[in-house]
Amino acid sequence: MEDSLHLIARRVRDLGVKAEILHGDTTVAEIQALNPVGVILSGSPHSVLEGGPLPDKRVFELGIPVLGICYGHQLMAHLLGGKVQNKENKEFGKEVVSIKKKTGILKGLVAKEVVWFSHGDQATKLPKGFVITASTKTCAHAGFADEKRRFFGIQFHPEVTHTVHGKKIISNFIFGICKAKKDWDMKSVAKNIIADLKKEIGDGHVVVGISGGVDSLVAATLLYKAIGNRLHAVFVDTGLLRKGEVESVSKSLRSQGFKNLHVIDASEMFLSRLVGVIEPEEKRKIIGHSFVEVFEKALTEELKAYPIGYLAQGTIYPDRVESASTSKHSSKIKSHHNLTLPERMKLKIVEPVKDLYKDEVRRVGEELGLPHALVWRHPFPGPGLAIRIVGEITPERLAILREADAVFTEELKLAGEYEKIWQSFAALLPLKVVGVMGDARTYEYIIALRAVDSIDGMSADWHKMPHELLEKISSAIVGKVRGVNRILYDVTQKPPATIEYE
Ligand code: XMP
Repeated sequence: MEDSLHLIARRVRDLGVKAEILHGDTTVAEIQALNPVGVILSGSPHSVLEGGPLPDKRVFELGIPVLGICYGHQLMAHLLGGKVQNKENKEFGKEVVSIKKKTGILKGLVAKEVVWFSHGDQATKLPKGFVITASTKTCAHAGFADEKRRFFGIQFHPEVTHTVHGKKIISNFIFGICKAKKDWDMKSVAKNIIADLKKEIGDGHVVVGISGGVDSLVAATLLYKAIGNRLHAVFVDTGLLRKGEVESVSKSLRSQGFKNLHVIDASEMFLSRLVGVIEPEEKRKIIGHSFVEVFEKALTEELKAYPIGYLAQGTIYPDRVESASTSKHSSKIKSHHNLTLPERMKLKIVEPVKDLYKDEVRRVGEELGLPHALVWRHPFPGPGLAIRIVGEITPERLAILREADAVFTEELKLAGEYEKIWQSFAALLPLKVVGVMGDARTYEYIIALRAVDSIDGMSADWHKMPHELLEKISSAIVGKVRGVNRILYDVTQKPPATIEYE
């Protein structure tokens, strides 16, 4: 359901209007303080009849429009005096709904609409003042409205693409009903973030850890625009980065005029500490602790002369907003790297891209003039290639993996497939198998290729790669990378698998 909340927020933002996700226990005063033009209620897999979260009823007394989607639709019926029941004939998946009233949020729709349902309960009795606006054979109250009070409920999901006119419904609500003004385009978002950072930081100095990923790069660029060379970036070369990563990221930052970039080559330290380590959690711990150590050393040595008061992080919106059923204020820290730094170093945290989705971070990056190839780079985990080599990490294995990964990426880009994929990479399996090359038998490693489609990495499907492309990639890797004689393509979903290999 968290996915559905994020999807709704993204749809609204894609229409150019700011949307924020609030937890069900947000008080009416807190909602009022945000001065919203409308409220959308949605988001629990539970039943309103069996302890699902109930928002403060006074949300209906704010005098602003309310749209209830699915669970929110049932909430509306439940809280306003209607009735919700668990029906035998549950509505799941694609359905045709009859539109009874083509006004309000359903304005401009046709008589029969294809929509997507996904909930067991139904509103069986309308609250006072409401009329039916849409129904199916088994769900009489699939849509209802009290147009006078501007309350609308739909049992189905307008945010998913299966609902053919879902975007129209959301647009009707935010523009037609709420009269929202467009306030969410990446140019003004970037401008506002920079202005806010200036205010927040004043004449302070900030340190940011660059990881090679797009989030920290965009965060650093925004900060640079806000405070110039009072931003200090530390880029730790762990020896576990992708091919060419240090060079391309450094070049991009320096070309903006950025002076205080400290690239610290700590690869020997990391790799020597990882010798003989096989257990994935142990690898992660060693890397995390080593990172903190290097970062702290940089603060007390290279950056000693500066009065650094802030640590910037590339936390993004989905990292912060957890499911509606968990308590609020549950801001998650993105990577274990920074876990102990702020308290130990008495640094305040600043998170320039904390309100943005990944695709928004990327669009802001483009707006700021960052190179396309860096902005559209696939996510890369903090522990780097260490969690893409199963078993022991050795310089030989790292070199093979780095090359194989670079060839894979290059082929995907050449084929125009790269940007269709959420995340792709090569992983090395610590097995040597027999092969034949020319007249000779070989005994080399297996490379597994992973490419997944996902929204946020929480769940993922394997990317349906064209077979011809897979064949080309496989030949290219075996042909160009010494030490590999077999290529596997991973066709498992997450769950049950994970995205990374450890
Ligand atoms: P898994 O392998 O858990 O990965 O399915 C889900 C997503 O998270 C990324 N990932 C990490 N990112 N530090 C990070 O910054 C980490 O320790 C880490 N572990 C996994 C992974 O690349 C995928 O996008």
